[in-house]
Amino acid sequence: MTAETVQPQQPLLRVQDLKIRIQMDNGVMNAVDGVDFEIRKGKTLGLVGESGCGKSLTSRALIGINPKECETSGTIAYRSSQEPEAKGEALDLLALDPNGRKIRSIRGRKIAMIFQEPMTAFSPMYTIGNQIMEAILIHRTKNKKEAKKLALEMLGKVGISDQEKRFDQYPHEFSGGMRQRAMISMALSCNPELLIADEPTTALDVTIQAQVLELMKRLQQEFGMAILLVTHDLGIIAEMCDEVAVMYLGKIVEQAPMKEIFRNPKHPYTKGLLRSMPRLGGNKAKRLESIEGSVPIPVNMPPMCGFYDRCKDRIEGVCNRQSVPATQISDTHTVRCFLYSDQKGGQ
Ligand SMILES: Nc1ncnc2c1ncn2[C@@H]1O[C@H](COP(=O)(O)OP(=O)(O)O)[C@@H](O)[C@H]1O
Ligand SMILES: [Mg+2]
Repeated sequence: MTAETVQPQQPLLRVQDLKIRIQMDNGVMNAVDGVDFEIRKGKTLGLVGESGCGKSLTSRALIGINPKECETSGTIAYRSSQEPEAKGEALDLLALDPNGRKIRSIRGRKIAMIFQEPMTAFSPMYTIGNQIMEAILIHRTKNKKEAKKLALEMLGKVGISDQEKRFDQYPHEFSGGMRQRAMISMALSCNPELLIADEPTTALDVTIQAQVLELMKRLQQEFGMAILLVTHDLGIIAEMCDEVAVMYLGKIVEQAPMKEIFRNPKHPYTKGLLRSMPRLGGNKAKRLESIEGSVPIPVNMPPMCGFYDRCKDRIEGVCNRQSVPATQISDTHTVRCFLYSDQKGGQ
């Protein structure tokens, strides 16, 4: 390597071979089955797929908040540019004790998470203001006056007016959209490097949804954080993301920059998702094409393509006989489908 060789920037987070198994009465469910992805500093990665494919388990695994029955393996290399982690090598978040001090200093402070249902983030027993202030007091300052000032400032940043009054209200006094904004303000009050947003706008009506997405984009520009945006909605992906990972039955079946996914989708599942996407100004009379069939439950699955039963392009004797390797379409585009693979043994 010469001195001029430019080192590509290391990703903020590199997830490798993430597996989550859950013991069920009728066998082992491989709910997340060997997931790899990277999140770059300041960028947005979209994780998209139908309900039940393992998006929430994957995103919660990053900060170690899945329930005990989730047996998790793999590595989650976190390369912070903030002290004290910035000094050393990447830190494997999965190797940390999920109840230990280290992960607790990262969770909420450097990696924050917001959910579809804000009531999972707020306790109904305390005022919104107190809860945001509490997060700031744990992670940022011990000074109560300063913490309150920061909390009020954050409420203002997410577009909540009359902050002094709102500060003293309880979660039930906020509308759904306002609670979502308040949760975002709590998540961002510690200026995290990574925001994990799991279906953050799914419960909101479209107008409020657009406002919340706009807000996230604006705050990302202001604070420079990376976002992992989990959604089943490709419209949101198009609006928000730099990179996309398409998930199906516990696996990432296709991954590429956002524009590439929309212009040049490869996996039959990605193509199906795109066809089922409503188009602005499209012919409403035309029925949306949706993907037939439903996602199977990955309990005692034989090694085969999980999309086999629903795939119009399946190759019998190939796709149902072995697990599917990832094929590199280009430097930035990978797909897990035998239509593009040289490794079609087993016919
Ligand atoms: N604690 C659990 N016990 C048993 N099954 C679970 C548990 N958590 C999730 N699952 C199952 O794992 C699969 C993936 O779940 P999840 O990650 O929540 O999917 P998504 O967020 O993509 O809708 C689903 O089939 C779900 O029912
Ligand atoms: Mg989910």
